[in-house]
Amino acid sequence: MSLPVPTADNRAVVTGASSGIGTALAEELASRGYSLILVARRGDLLAELAQRLTDRYGIVAEVRAVDLSDRDQRAPLAEELAARDIAILCNNAGVATFGPLSKLDLGYERDIMELNAVAVHDLTLAVLPGMLERRAGGILITGSAAGNMPIPHNTTYSASKAFVNTFSESLRGELKGTGVHVTLLAPGPVRTDNPDQEEMGNKIPEFIWVTAAHTAKITIDALARNKMRVVPGLISKGMSLAGQFGPRSITSVVAGAAYKKLGE
Ligand SMILES: NC(=O)c1ccc[n+]([C@@H]2O[C@H](COP(=O)([O-])OP(=O)(O)OC[C@H]3O[C@@H](n4cnc5c(N)ncnc54)[C@H](OP(=O)(O)O)[C@@H]3O)[C@@H](O)[C@H]2O)c1
Repeated sequence: MSLPVPTADNRAVVTGASSGIGTALAEELASRGYSLILVARRGDLLAELAQRLTDRYGIVAEVRAVDLSDRDQRAPLAEELAARDIAILCNNAGVATFGPLSKLDLGYERDIMELNAVAVHDLTLAVLPGMLERRAGGILITGSAAGNMPIPHNTTYSASKAFVNTFSESLRGELKGTGVHVTLLAPGPVRTDNPDQEEMGNKIPEFIWVTAAHTAKITIDALARNKMRVVPGLISKGMSLAGQFGPRSITSVVAGAAYKKLGE
């Protein structure tokens, strides 16, 4: 089975579409003819992207400026998605913090759990019944290589990504033969236009980065084939294997030392 073909009525949803990997996913889907629902907080950036993609690819692009970490804002979006013909859902919005948990803003750490984990669960549950009924659909979940191992100084983020990594791969197993594809994108470092990365970039060697455009292309290709997991780039693949199969007592020390530097 392949992904639903784009129609005038169906939509591909991309959360976190206002920058980085989300913008690249939106462009990749638009280039394949999908009309879009673009979700993030910065509605002005989404509106600019919607205009650009409409002009370039002749698709329809709708904007939903929603704070996905806020349950009251998220609920109407989930209701809307449950009622519409959603061909593809890209659960991509996510943020990270670095440093010892006790020194971070604990309210923001709670928001990260809502955004990175609970919102992914909510929106997936919203679209799943419709996709099963239509016996077609694609659910992409952007997890992270950071979800493969314990990472001191990145505690909430790595734990939230462990949830979505496992959620995605477990759900995929349940949905075999239903026509609904589920793919996990679990990248290492992906170069985006996020200003935070400029500083971080100096601490991560250049050869480790891959581009957001390349990531988006191979990810949508993988979703079309119902691949279990996409890890873009050879170096990230190596890091990912070490994280998945290395002893956790060792990976937590090695990763913790590296992330401590990122937090400084
Ligand atoms: N880039 C990497 O190296 C890398 C590696 C592994 C995993 N990832 C994962 O890839 C995904 C995208 O990351 P990125 O690097 O492209 O980051 P990014 O450029 O910072 O983009 C994050 C996106 O999430 C949206 N977002 C943040 N908080 C939100 C909220 N409360 N409600 C709704 N939207 C929100 C942002 O839009 P607004 O600010 O407009 O809301 C933005 O569109 C994330 O899940 C991240 O964890 C990235």
